[in-house]
Amino acid sequence: MEHQKSIIVLDFGGQYAHLIARRVRQCGVYSEIRDAATSAEDLKNAAGIILSGGPQSVYGDGSPQGDPEIFNLGIPVFGICYGLHWMVHTLGGEVTAGKVKEYGRAKLRLSNGKSKVTVGLPDEMTVWMSHGDEVTGLPDGFERIGTSDDCGNAFIVHIENSVYGVQFHPEVVHTEHGQDLIANFVGLCDADPWDIGSYVESIGDAIRKEVGDRKIFMMVSGGVDSTVAFVLLNKVLGTERVQGLLVDTGMMRKDEVLLIGRAFEELGIDNLRIEDASQYFLKKLIEVYEPEDKRWIIGDAFLSVQKRVSAEMGLTMEDGWMLGQGTIYPDTIETGETKNADKIKTHHNRIPEIQQMMEKGLVIEPLRDLYKDEVRALGQELGLPHDLVWRHPFPGPGLGVRILCAQSPSEVMTAVDISIAHAALPVQSVGVQGDGRSYRHAISLFNHDRYPDEQCWNLATSIPNKSSVFNRVLICTSHTEVPQFVFSPGYITLERANLLREADALVHRVMYDEGFYADIWQFPVVLLPFGISEGGQSIVLRPVESQEAMTANAAVIPKTALQRMTQELLSLDGIDLVFQDLTHKPPGTIEWE
Ligand code: XMP
Repeated sequence: MEHQKSIIVLDFGGQYAHLIARRVRQCGVYSEIRDAATSAEDLKNAAGIILSGGPQSVYGDGSPQGDPEIFNLGIPVFGICYGLHWMVHTLGGEVTAGKVKEYGRAKLRLSNGKSKVTVGLPDEMTVWMSHGDEVTGLPDGFERIGTSDDCGNAFIVHIENSVYGVQFHPEVVHTEHGQDLIANFVGLCDADPWDIGSYVESIGDAIRKEVGDRKIFMMVSGGVDSTVAFVLLNKVLGTERVQGLLVDTGMMRKDEVLLIGRAFEELGIDNLRIEDASQYFLKKLIEVYEPEDKRWIIGDAFLSVQKRVSAEMGLTMEDGWMLGQGTIYPDTIETGETKNADKIKTHHNRIPEIQQMMEKGLVIEPLRDLYKDEVRALGQELGLPHDLVWRHPFPGPGLGVRILCAQSPSEVMTAVDISIAHAALPVQSVGVQGDGRSYRHAISLFNHDRYPDEQCWNLATSIPNKSSVFNRVLICTSHTEVPQFVFSPGYITLERANLLREADALVHRVMYDEGFYADIWQFPVVLLPFGISEGGQSIVLRPVESQEAMTANAAVIPKTALQRMTQELLSLDGIDLVFQDLTHKPPGTIEWE
């Protein structure tokens, strides 16, 4: 889609570029991320340019460089952290390695009244800093309007040219009035207004143009993105030109297929085929114990079902069909579509087979410009029920990655030196430390309260930091003392999947009842193959808070809710023990596998 007068964020490699673009969009102006080296010629229609932060020093080998000509376009420019350094360095000022590295909160003092960009901001405010280098000499025409204790030039401006630079990060929530500052900058740019309503109006034409007289085949997982994309395509093209396929893998949530089917029915969408392939998936997973094997088998089985059904229904490219996907904006960037963004993970919508199809123009992704919150707003605009649109994200392999499988107990000999009752659990799980994957044990704490206190939260951070054996710390919410664990070998079976479905539904019901569903990013419920009786199993509650799932904090949940969940879970046949996972990401991952 063409967005003529928008604000472009040039990506100098910070993890913050998305946050900046989202902040600008929250001001009602479209914003998009481009590579730092984008030429001034390509940016001449922009209403404003923001230079993002980045991990490097401007003097470092291969440090990202922009086009100096952008300062001659007569467009407002706002540099943040590395963006500020590159700007100052390019315009003839001086950047040096700071005497003091400054991380975290700092007090910014503003000499207000000098620039429109600070209108309405207080003279002093708390800002978030994260830098080693700093500006020590200003380029011609610039003046300083803000300082902090450790940074003389924390905020500089070139009033005549509408060029601004800040050392702190206005885009993060820890910076007070950060959004106000960004809104002030946006107000100084000559940008067209944008919101999801206007997007819906213009996207229809764009989709019709891209599709021509072809038809769309789309896999619908039940997740928010593919559901919204499917409804949008149906509304724009009509139900005769769209066909959806939902594969029931047997690892869906309780009543999930029913819920989605009903929502589409109410919208008059009758072109979703539901293929029950649960037996096929379960058969493939017999005696599979390794997490990576499981993922691979589930992914592979999924693809074969998709191929079989699309061939059966004659939905091939030769017959004039193209593939629809629910890819959203962060997924396109995470896969490294801008040069300086680290490749975090290859998204399943960007596997080589799909990339090849994309090159041939055979894939349409109507949500590729949108962030999750915008996709949700669009979903509501299209008439999808609130609860469906606001559901927590759910992983592709479904409950498959939440049914922990093991053939034999894994024993740990190493003890930890702590004063609270604790026990190593006889299973391992995946974690992430530095840039690497870990596969280590979980340790559980036991206290009288069966609720995490400050000591437990501290241990949740310190144990994985110090230990090379444990990557997860839990608290037992069902028992006050360490019991004798009884391990039973387990892989994915219908019985285990059904038990986890019940547990997951119960936890979600309590979360809704107790009114904190919306505060939680995601709440995996995990089944472990040990208990305190023969064949008994355990449940781990894994509530987390997060922005985009790259990092996450284990969430504090109300004590009454935790007690209620625990009691109700223990009443399920086969559940002996309940735990809450207190590990942040890193060092834990959100999912256990
Ligand atoms: P981790 O466990 O890596 O998960 O912290 C980060 C986010 O990604 C989801 N997730 C997946 N989503 N296919 C998906 O579509 C997958 O294989 C997959 N694995 C993890 C996870 O639920 C969390 O939101």
